[in-house]
Amino acid sequence: MRVLVVGSGGREHAIVRKAAASSLVDEVHAAPGNGGIARQATCHFVSDADVSGIVELAGSIKADLTVVGPEAPLVAGMTDALEAAGFTVFGPRAEAARLEGSKGFAKEIMNAAGVPTAGFATFVEYESAMAHLATISFPTVVKADGLAAGKGVMVVEAREEAEAAIRQCFVDRAFGDAGLNVLVEECLVGHECSVLALCDGETILPLDPAQDYKRIFDGGKGPNTGGMGCYSPVPRVPAELVEEIIETVHRPTIEELKRRGIDFRGVLYAGLMLTGEGPKVLEFNVRFGDPEVQAIFPRLESDLVELMLATTAGSLGEHSLKWKDERCVSVILASAGYPESSSKGDVITGLDDDGQLEGLEVFHAGTAEKDGGFVTNGGRVLAVSALDSTFKGARDKAYAGVEKISFDGMQYRRDIAAEVVEAEG
Ligand code: AMP
Ligand code: GLY
Repeated sequence: MRVLVVGSGGREHAIVRKAAASSLVDEVHAAPGNGGIARQATCHFVSDADVSGIVELAGSIKADLTVVGPEAPLVAGMTDALEAAGFTVFGPRAEAARLEGSKGFAKEIMNAAGVPTAGFATFVEYESAMAHLATISFPTVVKADGLAAGKGVMVVEAREEAEAAIRQCFVDRAFGDAGLNVLVEECLVGHECSVLALCDGETILPLDPAQDYKRIFDGGKGPNTGGMGCYSPVPRVPAELVEEIIETVHRPTIEELKRRGIDFRGVLYAGLMLTGEGPKVLEFNVRFGDPEVQAIFPRLESDLVELMLATTAGSLGEHSLKWKDERCVSVILASAGYPESSSKGDVITGLDDDGQLEGLEVFHAGTAEKDGGFVTNGGRVLAVSALDSTFKGARDKAYAGVEKISFDGMQYRRDIAAEVVEAEG
């Protein structure tokens, strides 16, 4: 069969590598892909924002399965358009993707379903949002309702900062229309964790949890990013806790959607805070996490394509997941200026001809091919993932790989998975 993967990041490279390894798959295509993806897939110059262009491409390559990687095209209805044209698609339809596309909608569903989450208030007017600040304590969290490429969430320490965040939304329009609806949310404290699950509308199959590192600098300092590293599994989230999270978060959410006539098929990714009162939802995403899957997929023994097909067909109940009994650590290499900006065209050295490193899995995000090699082409450039029987072994291997790679302005965190290595003793 032919698989088409839509998107251009590390997540899409991870999906492409799994698809290429599947015994069901003869050809892998990507749109638009990136430098590393081009080593395993045929890349097509069609933007992942171009819904009709992707439908046309799926037709011309006769795609048997199209996987939509990022949130924006899902929210924009790419799945609906592909399905209407007769294609099989992995990724929820627009009405279900609203769980990520509107934080207000996600809260409405969680409240109706009794899913634990932070207390909040929503505002469509600058004045009332400002007035609300007199009634709350700090820190607090100000969120733009819509998609803002991970930048619409501001955790603020004091009232002046909250005022500035609200001004950014309503006055500066920093997040466009996404910021004209604002949530002011209770600040939760605890450890964060990502629990992703495949859902076919009925059956929910959890993937092993992953720990993302959101901030740019060591020790969780500096601005939020798309994610600077990851490890999986997460010892503080054992199987029983995953089960509890599925039953208190994922299942009631899917059921509340069903009550409203919305069929959720795809990945439901809960970003959670493990608080003293139990796990609470920070946000829902409706697609695979990036860099979560760069640490989850290397451990997955099951055929991802088979699972994605079962998700779309509603037959996940016949499947289970098989995992390697190993730990995975993934370190992100970012380009100069990230996350405020990014640098393009810096030559990357140290990778082999396939853009890989022996004994590791390297996932390309912001890379492009040039003269047979690779150059930077975005903020997050590469993810270097390593497996080992211990976190220490996986971490040492991942950082040994990182040391071999270099490009101008390369930045990465030195503390990915350090806490679990310490706990391992
Ligand atoms: P989100 O895109 O909603 O996951 O938010 C990005 C990051 O902001 C999260 O990973 C958390 O680190 C932080 N965050 C979001 N909501 C809250 C909250 N209610 N309390 C504390 N931190 C939060
Ligand atoms: N790792 C964060 C995300 O995928 O949204």
